[in-house]
Amino acid sequence: MVLLIILAIIGAIAVILFLIDSLWSLLELVTSHLMPFFLPTEVQSLTKKFGSWAAVTGSTDGVGPEYARELARRGLNVVLISRNQDKLRNVAAEIEKESAVKTKIIVADFSKGAEVYRHIEEELKDIPLGILVNNVGCQYEYPARLCELPAAKAWELINVNVGAVTMMSRLALSGMAVRGRGALVNVCSGSELQPLPLMAVYAATKVYVRSLTLAIREEYASHGIYVQHLSPLFIATKMNAFSPRLERGGLLVPDASTYARHAVAALGRVHDTTGYWLHGIQYFFIKVAPEWMRIKIGMYMNQDFRKEHFESVRSKAH
Ligand SMILES: NC(=O)c1ccc[n+]([C@@H]2O[C@H](COP(=O)([O-])OP(=O)(O)OC[C@H]3O[C@@H](n4cnc5c(N)ncnc54)[C@H](OP(=O)(O)O)[C@@H]3O)[C@@H](O)[C@H]2O)c1
Repeated sequence: MVLLIILAIIGAIAVILFLIDSLWSLLELVTSHLMPFFLPTEVQSLTKKFGSWAAVTGSTDGVGPEYARELARRGLNVVLISRNQDKLRNVAAEIEKESAVKTKIIVADFSKGAEVYRHIEEELKDIPLGILVNNVGCQYEYPARLCELPAAKAWELINVNVGAVTMMSRLALSGMAVRGRGALVNVCSGSELQPLPLMAVYAATKVYVRSLTLAIREEYASHGIYVQHLSPLFIATKMNAFSPRLERGGLLVPDASTYARHAVAALGRVHDTTGYWLHGIQYFFIKVAPEWMRIKIGMYMNQDFRKEHFESVRSKAH
């Protein structure tokens, strides 16, 4: 009898915790993933809230330059940090032409690891950064098992996806903490949700980004610093060049400028977001499935992308 009561209590607690978790996810779906995109624009401008300068890493292709453009449209001066000088000059010129703001470019190849940060720090020393967007990231060329991934690519993934967000956050937070304001946007990925077979290292780097982001948010909350965890699903950029279907895009796979327009609308308003409301709905439903099932689905999805990649390589060769 006593055993039955104990089991009943444990069962009731488990059901209550499950319900709280589900309701919390539903609340998050509405407040973080849907509301910011349907409410009127910011009450207080980003420049007033955080300062007049922003920096965006990985700002020559894909989401980065589009995010920088959106910030410039809101009156922020932007520092563009990427590896290709010519591309940086072009993006900077386009931004200055479109918005009456200042730009600065910093050439840095994050795959080189520790050596690049002294140069970046020196270049940023006179710039009071209000916003840092840790956007730079790299991906597998195509889905592959761990031993098939070239060692150099594994190091690139670690140096770019893990190293840059860590060191750039350190670099920006010290000044922001002294000024008592600032925003850090760390671009993560839906692949943080579970281990992802055939993109194991990429997904693991994004789990790191999420963990780092949520921890430093707590560390710097009392210094007036806002830390956003921005976790998109698929976006039609060259990162997904292994899949012509993803590169073509669609409603669920927005292009970089559509994505950036939505993501910047959520800046300063929510702490955790996918940045795009349709991604928010997908993120919610992905989380409903148990992890083991998501891992299996991930394997299946990446096997399909792998097939697509080799088919596309073959058809280009003919
Ligand atoms: N696309 C997606 O489906 C997707 C989904 C979830 C999350 N994300 C995340 O979103 C962020 C942006 O991705 P994206 O799709 O815009 O990627 P992308 O189109 O490949 O652009 C990446 C940017 O980073 C730069 N970059 C790459 N390696 C670099 C290095 N070693 N040093 C300096 N700059 C470097 C690239 O420079 P170049 O112009 O020289 O190539 C480019 O400007 C990443 O953190 C990614 O993980 C993307």
